[in-house]
Amino acid sequence: MTKIILITLLALTPLFAQVKENIEVPYVAYPIKMGKGFDQVNGNCLMCHSFGYILNQGPQPRAFWKAKIHKMIDAFKAPISDEDAKIVEDYLATYYGNGK
Ligand code: HEC
Repeated sequence: MTKIILITLLALTPLFAQVKENIEVPYVAYPIKMGKGFDQVNGNCLMCHSFGYILNQGPQPRAFWKAKIHKMIDAFKAPISDEDAKIVEDYLATYYGNGK
């Protein structure tokens, strides 16, 4: 009997977790610089996450960006061609680089 009561209670608890008000998820716009290679960034990087992941890194050397692109390909299996990887690297080094 106790088991049945417990199971019923557990099954009902999500009902109390509901809220009446509408929940608004904040929209964060990440402005990204337009330029040569933008199309490749747009097509290859946005399928999994927003530009925020890129912008939040701050200005970084080319080697950093190259390593990140290859991390996406190796660790997260991002389907990015060698050709596009190079274009994205150039783009990131140009617009989000620190000159190194
Ligand atoms: C297949 C999915 C996928 C694609 C495509 C992808 N990423 Fe990611 N990216 C991830 C995941 C997963 C994380 C890690 C998220 C976390 O740790 O919360 C991540 C995180 C990052 C980070 C944060 C730093 C870090 O090391 O975790 C950067 C920078 C980044 N991605 C850049 C890129 C760039 C540039 C591209 C395009 C060339 C790209 N990503 C494409 C899946 C992807």
